[in-house]
Order: sequence, then structure tokens, then C-alpha cells
Amino acid sequence: MRFTVAIDGPAAAGKGTISRGLAERFGFAHLDTGLLYRATGRKVLETGLAPEAAARAVGPEDLARDGLRTQAVAELASRVATVPEVRHALVAFQRDFARRDGGAVLDGRDIGTVICPDAEVKLYVTASAEVRARRRFEELRASGQASDYEDVLDEVLKRDARDMGRKDAPMRAAEDAVQIDTSEMDIDDALAAAVAVVEARL
Ligand code: C5P
Repeated sequence: MRFTVAIDGPAAAGKGTISRGLAERFGFAHLDTGLLYRATGRKVLETGLAPEAAARAVGPEDLARDGLRTQAVAELASRVATVPEVRHALVAFQRDFARRDGGAVLDGRDIGTVICPDAEVKLYVTASAEVRARRRFEELRASGQASDYEDVLDEVLKRDARDMGRKDAPMRAAEDAVQIDTSEMDIDDALAAAVAVVEARL
């Protein structure tokens, strides 16, 4: 059975939680595509390779390494993600993943628009920048990384602007995406809304 769920939206809107929840509920494989860009950004920093070469060299072992979820790596990721050759180098891996037998959930910024325009389900998960910054701030604090709310909000706004403003595959909702605004929702409500959309199309 081939069934693709494409989930896009800005950082800390709840994409990851919804993706993992859907994958578990329906037995689908899950790919957090942000990790591909994060691993590419870190490889550039560590090896000095050009961004495109780094993207080509990224393998499963890079995705499994710790330390990809820091703010510094997110910043690097959003920079390399503006390079068209980097995006192109990562397309085939994502498309193969999406069409694997048994169903797949992919979350990112351009899944419904560029990577999987024919996905059976497209969701655009969003929330206000203030709510997202507050969530990210709490996550960082819980994982022992000291941070300041205003700085986190600033990072969120900068990353949104870069992701929405780039020429190649900017972050936006596909025309046929179902929008879920999680600003006033808890995790259970957000997941329930996503489950209802998938069930209606299965
Ligand atoms: O989702 P995450 O915060 O891990 O993504 C890190 C960065 O990678 C994003 O800010 C974005 O610039 C980039 N990205 C992208 N396309 C995707 C996934 C992530 O451009 N499909």
C-alpha cells in the first residue's frame, strides 16, 4: 500500500508531534526532512565541503547523530536550505521514502508543494510566532540549554522570513492542504484533527 502524508509548516508549530503520532497510529514510516538540512548544515561546518557536496554526502549515519536539534544547527540548516543545488540533491531520497510500501509521513516546508505534490493527504500545521517561540523556549529549557524568550522569538521570526522568502521552494501551504492552527490546541486535539483528515482519505 502506498499512502503519503505531507506535513508542512513553520518551526515549533507541532509538525513533529503530529507526524510521529500519525506514523504510530497508522503504522507509517516517518521522515523528519528538517534533519536532512540540519545534517547538511553541520557537515558544511565540520568538513568545509561546499553545501551541495555536503548534501550529497549526507547519509543515514548523519541523521542518527546527536546534536542536530540545537538552535545553532537550525540556523545553519536554514542557510543551506536556500541553495537550490542542496534542495535538488535531497529530492530523490525524500521521494523514494514517500513512496515506500506501507505508507509514509514526511514533514518539512515544501513536502506538499514540491517533494510530494500528489500526496494523498496534505496538512499545513501552523501557530502564532509567539506561541511557537514560547514552546521552543520551554523545550530548550527542559533540555538544559539556557536561552532567553526574546532571543528565541527573534530566531523564529528570522527563520520564518528566510524560509518564506527564498526563491526555490519557499515555505507555503499547498492549495489543497488542510490547515491546522495549533495556537490554542493541546497535543491531543492537534493530533485528533490530523487523524480525522487521514481517516477520511484512507
Ligand atoms: O524543521 P526544522 O526546524 O528541523 O528545519 C530546519 C531548517 O531546514 C528549516 O528552517 C528550513 O530552512 C529547512 N528545511 C527546508 N525544507 C524542509 C525541511 C527543512 O528548507 N523540507
